[in-house]
Amino acid sequence: MADRPTVARTVPSLRRALAPFRDTGERIALVPTMGALHRGHLALVREARRRARHVVVSIFVNPTQFAPHEDFGSYPRGFAADLKALQTAKADLVWAPSAEVMYPAGFATRIEPQGAAKAGLEDKFRPHFFGGVATVVAKLFTQTAPDFALFGEKDYQQLRVVTQMAQDLDLAVKVIGVPTVREQDGLALSSRNAYLSAAERSAAPLLYRGLKASAVRIKQGEPIEMVLEEARAEIGRAGFALDYLEARHALTLAPIVSRKDGPIRLLVAAKIGKTRLIDNIAV
Ligand code: PAJ
Repeated sequence: MADRPTVARTVPSLRRALAPFRDTGERIALVPTMGALHRGHLALVREARRRARHVVVSIFVNPTQFAPHEDFGSYPRGFAADLKALQTAKADLVWAPSAEVMYPAGFATRIEPQGAAKAGLEDKFRPHFFGGVATVVAKLFTQTAPDFALFGEKDYQQLRVVTQMAQDLDLAVKVIGVPTVREQDGLALSSRNAYLSAAERSAAPLLYRGLKASAVRIKQGEPIEMVLEEARAEIGRAGFALDYLEARHALTLAPIVSRKDGPIRLLVAAKIGKTRLIDNIAV
């Protein structure tokens, strides 16, 4: 079908597909994803459409950002449905390499981001994660050479790490953050929400409610650590196993103790049953 996005599966075919975009002299935007697309991903595609004439979406479940015990094997995959959603969203090109194309035999390079990538948040629980993300995103950026790349605030630490990496490596890509898309009850959309049982699903919005209530109290001047301690206890009582609930500097992700220390971001990660959920909001 003519209005289907083109699908490229090798680097040479990606280059061939990008050449006519480049020839127009108009802007190209990239939306990196691991597929199993939902309204959150599609909000990034919409924002990409607003900013650029040509929209490329990558779909690649990146093995190097999963630890051996994590859900790489069972991560939701549905290429046909993704392609249909991207057709509706008017993406122009889908970059869907295999693991062998992305990491050919003999591949021996890894980017190890520092700074926000060592903030003691996701990195503490997934130490392999940001090295894998930074390496694949650097490759996606050089393969596609977009003017813009769109990332969700949903994965806030990832957004900060990728922004810093693009700056540090002088990549001519402007990284744009897009606000988190939520269900009506506040739960942040995530491909992993599909793992939740009915009971877990109904408890899950508590994370966002806890963030929102804490942000209000901190804004009103209550002591940050006291507010967070109470929210941590409530999250625990609701049946979550909390990994962290922290107030951090919104740009560096360094710890902060008072509102005077800079713009604040509250970040949370917790497991409910076997599913690990993350969320964050601005104060
Ligand atoms: P994935 O989890 O598929 O997410 C792709 C992009 O969609 C990320 O930028 C993520 O922050 C964004 N996103 C996910 N849920 C969202 C929501 N509810 N609202 C707004 N944006 C949302 O993140 C990854 O893939 C990978 O780590 C990747 C960057 C592709 C590197 O492999």
